[in-house]
Amino acid sequence: MMTTVLVTGGAGYIGSHTCVELALAGYDLVVVDNLSNSWPETLDRVGELVGRPIQFHRLDLREHHDLLNLFASRRIDAVVHFAGFKAVGDSVRDPLSYYDNNVAGTVSLLKAMLRNDVARLIFSSSCTVHGLPRSVPVTEGEPRNPVNPYGCTKAMIERIIEDQVAATSGWRALLLRYFNPVGAHPSARIGEDPIGIPTNLMPYVMKVASGKYPYVHVFGDDYRTRDGTGVRDYIHVVDLAKGHVAALHALERVDGCQAINLGTGRGCSVLEVISEASKAVGFPIPYRIEGRRPGDIAEIYADASLAADVLGWQAEHDLTAMCRDHWNWQRKNPDGYRSSIST
Ligand code: NAD
Ligand code: UD1
Repeated sequence: MMTTVLVTGGAGYIGSHTCVELALAGYDLVVVDNLSNSWPETLDRVGELVGRPIQFHRLDLREHHDLLNLFASRRIDAVVHFAGFKAVGDSVRDPLSYYDNNVAGTVSLLKAMLRNDVARLIFSSSCTVHGLPRSVPVTEGEPRNPVNPYGCTKAMIERIIEDQVAATSGWRALLLRYFNPVGAHPSARIGEDPIGIPTNLMPYVMKVASGKYPYVHVFGDDYRTRDGTGVRDYIHVVDLAKGHVAALHALERVDGCQAINLGTGRGCSVLEVISEASKAVGFPIPYRIEGRRPGDIAEIYADASLAADVLGWQAEHDLTAMCRDHWNWQRKNPDGYRSSIST
């Protein structure tokens, strides 16, 4: 019998790419998403890519009774939990909505799992739980020290899951700490579709390349890094998605609860990203050096060795592939899923 995986937030950026990889790996999927930051069209496209429709329930995780009804209506073997809000700036402006959606949503999910004896969980965490790391590369042993409400929700959820796993015999969980996901599926059928002006580097660079904005604002060139600009561990979203397949396999052997970094282990600077993106698009992408962005750190990248040991997984795509696939998606879907809906 196929293993059935409930994917929360499966219509989102990382969730949709993960649905493709899970379905191709033979898992039966049930997606729940309230579509607060995504489009139903995404799952139609996932279905096209994998050759079968994806079962979808439009549902908010905090609607506990609806969630219980869903769990009661079918067998679920494991949960991959992406659903949540993720914008750092919004979380500073409106912390309560972040604690409510991310933390209360997760508690509702865990209660439904407990009630239905579903004891396998993969959680989308973030390197942001560390705040300002003491050293790089960052290992999983680095203390949690988040510096904004979004990071606090991730750190709290990690702790809640650890406590729940410790309290209940047979529960197993992996807390996957993503670094900086970029890129898109090579088919260019699914990708990141940020609402409004993108705040992250790669989507902004691609919007400049497509003519939507005149130039990239480079936030500081006076950091103690190799070219003075900020260094991050960019990871291709398809590699990240495959990390979840490896994590589900590993849940069969891993006891208890464990945090694992999903990064490449390599840092790239802002100027390196702009240079590689320029090669992908075929012309120089304009940029201007500006002041530092408040709250930014100079450099963070993963120690990716635990993922290799525990999951038998490592990232395969380099920055060239990340830029190529992100650009392909941007070029073919200039207004994201909206452009295709109207055509
Ligand atoms: P996303 O916004 O594209 O996907 C999240 C999905 O969850 C959306 O489809 C949204 O509609 C849904 N959702 C939100 N709240 C919900 C709720 N209460 N009930 C049901 N559905 C709900 O974001 P993403 O980039 O795919 O990120 C997925 C997860 O990974 C998030 O938890 C995010 O915090 C985490 N993460 C993302 C990044 C990143 O850079 N993208 C980095 C680290 C961690
Ligand atoms: C952001 C989030 C973090 C999240 C991560 C992954 C903040 C403060 N942090 O981190 O919680 O886990 O995304 O998605 O938002 N840059 C520019 N110009 C731009 C945009 C960014 O120069 O227009 C620079 C930044 O200064 C940084 C690098 O590019 O050095 C990457 O920035 P970004 O993509 O926003 O990611 P993070 O800051 O790592």
